[in-house]
Amino acid sequence: MAETILVVDDDESLLEVCEVGLRVAGFTVATAASGEQAVKKVETQDFDLVLSDLQMPGKIDGNALVREVKMKRPTTEVIIMTGAPSLKSAVDSLKDGAYDYIVKPFHVDDLTATVRRCLDHRQLRKDIATERAMRHELEAAYTELQKVEQMKEAFLARLSHELKTPLSEFQMSLQLLEDVVENKLPDQYKSSMRNFVTMANTGAKRMNRTIMELLAFVDLQRRGVPEPRVDVDMEKICRTLVDRMRPLWEPKKITFDISFNKTITINGNYDILTCALEHLVQNAILFNKEGGRVVIKGENRASRIGLSIADTGEGIPETEFSKIFDSFYQIANYLTRKVDGLGLGLATTRRIIELHGGEIIVSSKVGEGTTFTILFPVAKPAEAAA
Ligand SMILES: Nc1ncnc2c1ncn2[C@@H]1O[C@H](COP(=O)(O)OP(=O)(O)OP(=O)(O)O)[C@@H](O)[C@H]1O
Ligand SMILES: [Mg+2]
Repeated sequence: MAETILVVDDDESLLEVCEVGLRVAGFTVATAASGEQAVKKVETQDFDLVLSDLQMPGKIDGNALVREVKMKRPTTEVIIMTGAPSLKSAVDSLKDGAYDYIVKPFHVDDLTATVRRCLDHRQLRKDIATERAMRHELEAAYTELQKVEQMKEAFLARLSHELKTPLSEFQMSLQLLEDVVENKLPDQYKSSMRNFVTMANTGAKRMNRTIMELLAFVDLQRRGVPEPRVDVDMEKICRTLVDRMRPLWEPKKITFDISFNKTITINGNYDILTCALEHLVQNAILFNKEGGRVVIKGENRASRIGLSIADTGEGIPETEFSKIFDSFYQIANYLTRKVDGLGLGLATTRRIIELHGGEIIVSSKVGEGTTFTILFPVAKPAEAAA
């Protein structure tokens, strides 16, 4: 929409010249023959710019008009038209908030150029103000989000501790019960009671693992890399994990291919690095199909240190890529999904990798499989030599 300008001058012919010139330049123009008339118009309409003569008969001259406009419409710009003898008053009007002045007689091209510059400047100021307001809004939203995150963490920590105490009592009682079954129970009851105790033990262990996962997640949000820090061999971790997870992948007939072109050692905490990789390998097994394949590849090159874990599972739609790293996020509905879990694995993994200076990215094709790649910064020559 064309910008609106109010031209104010008691000289009828100059008023007409300005009006026509500015209209030709594409502006919407209104006119006023005195300061008083101009004030009335400004009260009823929000102009982008008021272009006013300095010396006008009546109570409201150019300087007074600048003050009135700035009081009533602070965002409306004012340009003063002045003859050379009144230059000092024109300069004074700048102090009252006028954007600029133009000395009569002027060419209409100079007038439109000054008007254009003023309106561009106004637009820029508006854009900056909008950007600033948006930044404030964003900062406020971020602070709010941080508060919610802190509340969530505090709640999780509390919940886990509250569950841990009764669970340890339950596990201790189970041990006593196991002892009674083995040593005090007549033989004919032993076998069935053993089964019940085993079932209770399995359930308690699973619950314990879930609580430990929750606690580990809360701890990770609060702390940095725990001590001790050592040089951790990533290939060794992968091979140990795959071996340890045999009960998960053997029944699904999943095969593994592990290859590292060179040793990859990351300086960090062995336990949490193992935990990060465990979640990825576990996902690659659980979300894989029967008879699927998992390829673990380590690349230690001058330009890149990368570790990828690829599976031949159901895949992840691209729209989910950023969400799966959020805590408790799971793609499939909790009630219909076939795989257990809290939805903390990838959030935990990402946090651990980032704590070690790396990043994790996902690529996937629905129906074909998923690859998670961990990238660690390549040591600069000076660091490498040190
Ligand atoms: N390799 C994969 N293939 C397909 N989908 C995956 C894969 N890894 C993760 N996902 C999807 O991302 C979601 C989040 O994964 P994440 O590991 O964080 O949680 P989870 O496995 O559901 O539970 P948890 O790891 O806490 O036991 C999963 O529920 C699953 O929908
Ligand atoms: Mg998982």
